[in-house]
Amino acid sequence: MNIEETINEVKEEFQKMFAEAHDSESLEKIRIRFLGKNGRVKKLYGKMGSIPDESKPVLGKELNKLKQQITRQLEARQEIIEEEKKKQQLEEERIDVTLPGTRIKTGSQHPLSLVTEELEDIFISMGFKIAEGPEVEDEYYNFKALNIPEDHPARDLQDTLYLDDLYLLRTHTSPVQVRTMEKTKPPIKIIAPGRVYRADELDASHSPVFHQLEGLVVDDKITFGDLKGTISIMVEQIFGEEHSVRFRPSYFPFTEPSAEVDVSCIVCEGKGCSLCSRTGWLEIMGSGMVHPKVLSMSGIDPRSYSGFAFGMGIDRITLLKYGIDDIRLLQENNRRFLQQFK
Ligand code: DAH
Repeated sequence: MNIEETINEVKEEFQKMFAEAHDSESLEKIRIRFLGKNGRVKKLYGKMGSIPDESKPVLGKELNKLKQQITRQLEARQEIIEEEKKKQQLEEERIDVTLPGTRIKTGSQHPLSLVTEELEDIFISMGFKIAEGPEVEDEYYNFKALNIPEDHPARDLQDTLYLDDLYLLRTHTSPVQVRTMEKTKPPIKIIAPGRVYRADELDASHSPVFHQLEGLVVDDKITFGDLKGTISIMVEQIFGEEHSVRFRPSYFPFTEPSAEVDVSCIVCEGKGCSLCSRTGWLEIMGSGMVHPKVLSMSGIDPRSYSGFAFGMGIDRITLLKYGIDDIRLLQENNRRFLQQFK
């Protein structure tokens, strides 16, 4: 085969391979086969030495043309391939702005927080300040300073969660009364909302952790009438004016006299139903006039000052206010339940 024939053969082979090359890898293979260091075109240049001088210019030109032709064709197709790739990528990554967005789910305030805040607002509007105390208490503040005797059943291991011989988880918010009186001179007018603990099994109406709101007012000439007035306003605002309040004599070691406060049943309005055990009334808190012993143990002279106190379960008030029949619903964080309080 002479060199012209070889050139034609290379051309033909290239065109044949080129016709079937539709991706970058095939193009690169072809480039190496024809234009690479040991490629077919390079080899043809190598043969130039062995041809007569007069043929060299023509053949040289011919070879250059071949090389350019191959280069151009390969480059042109490579460009097309890259264009295609880009187009495809754009198509794949296209953002459909007409698609509906992903909704971000917003939370809502927990019903216990709603009721706590509502109670706080009511009492703040009557001039109360908010006080706090520790959830880990000692026996003195939780029991002794509240005139609760050594042998009182509340002190029993079955009712109280003890951490050791001295410390326990407070069983009520009443110790905040003592802590406040110890460090503040009358007039005192505080509420203390917070968590309390009891050794109870969790069921529809009991929980080992629940919430109370304590109230304490101490000043000269504070009477039971002041207690009744304050509580009546609170109940009216929380449950609505149509509800009546009643004070029923009771007993607490830290108050004398003591009273339990009932609100007319939110379901039957006093007629009697299963919620109020046919009594027409629902018990919502304990209250009374602060016992003189409690005042003096906390450094307040009972001959100069008197006071009233009250303590209510925030969970119970929440259940009654919203007609929820199971305290566990307040702890499960079920979103469908919680969303109803938006
Ligand atoms: N500490 C009582 C309880 O947990 C509630 C209570 C009753 C608080 C009467 C008081 C009160 O301040 O005067 O059951």
